Amino acid sequence: MSNLTQEINRRRTFAIISHPDAGKTTLTEKFLLYGGAINLAGSVKGKATARHAVSDWMEIEKERGISVTSSVLQFEYDGYCINILDTPGHQDFSEDTYRTLMAADSAVMVIDGSKGVEAQTRKLFKVCVMRKIPIFTFINKMDRDANDTFDLLDEIEKELGIATCPKNWPIGSGKGFKGIFDRDKRCVIIYSDTEKGTREGEAMEIPLEEEDRLRDCIGQEAMDKLLEEIELLDGASAEFDLEEVQKGELTPVFFGSALTNFGVEIFLQHFLEMTTTPLPRRADTGLIDPVENNFSAFVFKIQANMNKAHRDRIAFMRICSGKFEASMEVKHVQGGKIMRLSQPQQIMASERKILEEAYAGDIIGVFDPGIFSIGDTLCMPKESFAYEGIPTFAPEHFARVRQVDTMKRKQFVKGINQIAQEGAIQIFQEYNTGMEEIIVGVVGVLQFDVLKYRLNNEYNVEIRLEPLPYEYIRWIENKDEIDLDKLTGTSDMKKVKDMRGNPLLLFVNEWSVGMTLDRNKGLILTEFGRN
Ligand code: G4P
Repeated sequence: MSNLTQEINRRRTFAIISHPDAGKTTLTEKFLLYGGAINLAGSVKGKATARHAVSDWMEIEKERGISVTSSVLQFEYDGYCINILDTPGHQDFSEDTYRTLMAADSAVMVIDGSKGVEAQTRKLFKVCVMRKIPIFTFINKMDRDANDTFDLLDEIEKELGIATCPKNWPIGSGKGFKGIFDRDKRCVIIYSDTEKGTREGEAMEIPLEEEDRLRDCIGQEAMDKLLEEIELLDGASAEFDLEEVQKGELTPVFFGSALTNFGVEIFLQHFLEMTTTPLPRRADTGLIDPVENNFSAFVFKIQANMNKAHRDRIAFMRICSGKFEASMEVKHVQGGKIMRLSQPQQIMASERKILEEAYAGDIIGVFDPGIFSIGDTLCMPKESFAYEGIPTFAPEHFARVRQVDTMKRKQFVKGINQIAQEGAIQIFQEYNTGMEEIIVGVVGVLQFDVLKYRLNNEYNVEIRLEPLPYEYIRWIENKDEIDLDKLTGTSDMKKVKDMRGNPLLLFVNEWSVGMTLDRNKGLILTEFGRN
């Protein structure tokens, strides 16, 4: 095997999806710990920055020129080269969070055992399903009282519509948490609260047949319950099928406690074995295989610099094939230019490291003087193809924008259009009313503050935002077959168009979406816009 093939095949690039507080940061810390990338848990990101308020966020952006939450972590473990993509939550939740998932080959879904499936997980999960990438489930916080295990699995199946296959099974939870049963090895791994910040110790494993030993360790009651549950489980749960996992139709489920460092390394090992090497990606010339092709990449995220003194931006790209070398010339397909990528860097937590080379599966950030757009392709100078674009994700918050000083119309239009082009916000106009009013849509409310701040700072334009009650937006998939003037919805429905003139519908609630579909036979609505 060539060195290139080896390098690519040992890469695993995934995103962690979860609802805030489920334990994503804690789990990531433990992963890094095993890889030796950090010595002490707690250093991935300080709580202060992870939970920052709006004003802090602005300060952080100004100081560092880049969001601390936009990190991609790379570390080595057991011969694998692992890239973890962060999907920011809390107020940082934005379209970028979704876009990040476009760069991942699989996802780890972290669920709090006492809460089950929560809103943000549900949203991110939908994007993974759209991409048909494998999804692995880690049910966390088993050291706290958790919901019934069967109920948890049922909830995942019903709410998310994916089949589950538990790879291990928890024995109790909270104060009564005794460990997990490994279904492949048919043995029990006894719970031990390893000291925070140390590697998982040699866990005590007891084969199921050694009943006396097992009884001594977990007690008669827990043992009886376990045997009963195993019988039920073996009879009822889906057969494990790696092919289904890889198609995103079946999720292997693991249980553990990230905080007390239990079940995490077992999960990581299984996950690495089952997850995929860098996946081929679709371009206008067909599928591009990561190993068979020269360097190519696509831009999935652009981070504007909030520092006025540095108007640069960072374009994040996912390398899809071949090897990248800092000195080489590449072609920016959409711009039609041959160039060297400036200051290619890897963003490691809060540090940036200039890199010399990278391989398919890796994420690099490059200095962008304002030439890249989300979805752009880079390839070798003699080649030319474009990767499939990144969809536009449905905003959930809308506001009407009003200029405070109407004399500055020109700057306002320029600014808002540029910010929209970068993908930081989406803008819409009233449909057919002839009004020039602009409606802004965002995935996360923090983006409204970013818009205000940037228009003021960079374009010297002050705006006022009037919140609108809409929460649901739908693109019309079959817009050519639908007469928009005749389309009738509920009274709260609003017709708008996007920057490219595509018609869209805004709704206050999901019920209205359903009603509108009922009233207009043949209408097809989607939650993702195509670029
Ligand atoms: P997030 O990135 O998904 O938002 O979650 P994060 O890891 O920050 O964890 C959220 C809270 O849950 C933290 O507590 C963390 O210590 C706790 N936690 C994570 N995993 C486990 C687990 O397996 N068991 C238990 N019992 N708790 C867990 P916090 O009080 O909010 O923060 P801290 O002050 O303790 O750091």
